[in-house]
Order: sequence, then C-alpha cells, then structure tokens
Amino acid sequence: MDIPLNDTAANVNRNVSRPPPPPRHAAGVTPACVLITGASGGIGHELAVRYARPGCTLILWGRDKSRLQATAAACEARGARTHLRALDLSDGEAAITAFREDDTSTPFDTVILCAGLSDMKRQADRTERAEDVLRLALVNYATPAALTMAAAERMQARNGGAICLIGSVAAFHDLPFAAGYGGSKAGLARFASSARIALAPLGVRVTLVAPGFVDTPMSQRIIGPRPFLVSPARAARHIMAAIARNQGECVFPWPFRVLRLIDRLTPRPLRDRIMARIDADQKPTA
Ligand SMILES: NC(=O)c1ccc[n+]([C@@H]2O[C@H](COP(=O)([O-])OP(=O)(O)OC[C@H]3O[C@@H](n4cnc5c(N)ncnc54)[C@H](OP(=O)(O)O)[C@@H]3O)[C@@H](O)[C@H]2O)c1
Repeated sequence: MDIPLNDTAANVNRNVSRPPPPPRHAAGVTPACVLITGASGGIGHELAVRYARPGCTLILWGRDKSRLQATAAACEARGARTHLRALDLSDGEAAITAFREDDTSTPFDTVILCAGLSDMKRQADRTERAEDVLRLALVNYATPAALTMAAAERMQARNGGAICLIGSVAAFHDLPFAAGYGGSKAGLARFASSARIALAPLGVRVTLVAPGFVDTPMSQRIIGPRPFLVSPARAARHIMAAIARNQGECVFPWPFRVLRLIDRLTPRPLRDRIMARIDADQKPTA
C-alpha cells in the first residue's frame, strides 16, 4: 500500500505491513561472479584458483596474456567459467571503461582489486624516478579507488556486493626507501576506510587487506630479509576470510599489527632515526 507523502502521522495506519526491504547481497555468501585484477600474478592467481568452482564466473585482469591464460586454465580445470582482459591499470580512464563493459556483460558480486606495483629506492639511487612514482600512484591508488566507485555505483543498484582492496603494511610506516610505494598504499588505506563508511548504507562492503611479506615475484625482488614471510596460499586464505566476514581491515601476519602499534607509540624523532638507518635494496625489474 502506498502512503501519500503529505499524510500526517495520525492518518497513517501503523498496522499496515510494509513490504520487506529487498534482499541484500549478504556477507558470507559464496561469490558467483568475481573480478580479480592482478590475476596473472602471485596473490591474484592464488585467489582466482581458490574461488574457482562450478557455477562461478571469474573475470581475470592482468597485463601478461600468457600468465593470465595459465590462471584461466587452472580455474577452468576446477569448473569455473573465465573471461580475460589484458590491460594496463596506469590508464585509469581505459580501466573504468573496461570495468563498465565487463560488469554489463557479467554483473560482479565481488571485486578484488589486487594488482599492484612495488618499487624501492635502491642503494645506488639518490632519489626515486619521478615516472615510477607516478605509475605507483596510478596503479596502486588512483585506478583502484576509481574502480571502487565504478563498482559501488553498479552494485548499489542491485542490492550490494563486496569490494576488496589489497593494500600493504607499508601504508602504516614512514619508509624513506619506498616513499612512492608506501604513499600509494597509505592513500589506498584511507580511501578504503572512508569508502567503507560511505558505501555501507548502499549494501556495498569495502574491505582493506594489508599483507606483510608474501612470497611472490614482488617480494622476491627484495635483497635482504623478508620477516614473517607467508605463502600466497596463506595470503589468499586471509583475504577470502576477510571478505566473507565483511572485515573492514585485515592486517596479516599478526606481528605486523604489533609493529604498527609500536610505530604509533614511538616518538617521531626516534622513529625517524630508526627508519633512516634501514638499508633497503632490490633487484632491478627484468
Ligand atoms: N608480495 C608481497 O610481499 C606483498 C606485500 C604487501 C602487499 N602486496 C600487494 O599485493 C598485491 C599483489 O601483489 P603480488 O605479491 O601478487 O605481486 P606480483 O606477483 O608481482 O603480481 C602483481 C600483479 O599486478 C599486476 N600488475 C602490475 N602492474 C600492473 C599494471 N600496470 N596494470 C595491470 N596490472 C598490473 C601484475 O600483472 P602482470 O604480471 O600481468 O604484469 C600481476 O598480476 C599488490 O597490490 C601488492 O602491492 C604484496
């Protein structure tokens, strides 16, 4: 029954049963249509294979076509349908257009924005390359933030969905050897926590995942220790559980949660002195 907008409260029959709100895409529901960016790489590949099952469609994005095809083959062997798209996320406008095309043909209930780049100022360098800092900002922050809103716009019209942004524990510390990378992930973290509040009333659930070191080609470039290293399989389990639980933020492994707390409690001058002494280095990209 429609209630005219100008009816006074006294005239409204309070016993009229209102239609129940439309069902929302609930947390914990097994995803049926998942977009994964960075599906050609370590964590994204692992997530794709773990979500793959009969009845599930996976839209897999990456740059390297042959690695994407390898991910797709592994997913199809587990009974999933796959669609592939090779594109460079440093072109944000193209990514938004591609997102809308793919979502129109296969509406996503879950979007995992996993693609990312890392970079460090090597010992031989005095500064980070300006072009690299720009690319880090585009691929790690600007495009995922734009795609989050493109996804939210579509998901809210169909009663919700889940969006997961893969950040990094680098967001929580001042890293003089990786200002571009840390800054891009810090921007992503603040974007995710803000978007989570903004989009919750629309039924769109935003999760930020901040891993420590994961044993993938990205961290394998680092010269030096990778403390508390976890496997891609373990990383994928954490990420899938965080999405299923509708967790706002998931930082793993746990020692990095302690380090974040210690960082916050340490006086800035002391913290700056400690960070300035860290000797970081990485192998050049192939
Ligand atoms: N590994 C770690 O220790 C670690 C720690 C903290 C956070 N993370 C985050 O976890 C995410 C996944 O990293 P990973 O460890 O799986 O790294 P990875 O093995 O190097 O994979 C990175 C993925 O991102 C894609 N990618 C990179 N640049 C791209 C671009 N410009 N356009 C489109 N796709 C692009 C790669 O595609 P192609 O291979 O096809 O180029 C690849 O699929 C990243 O966001 C990363 O920052 C990783």
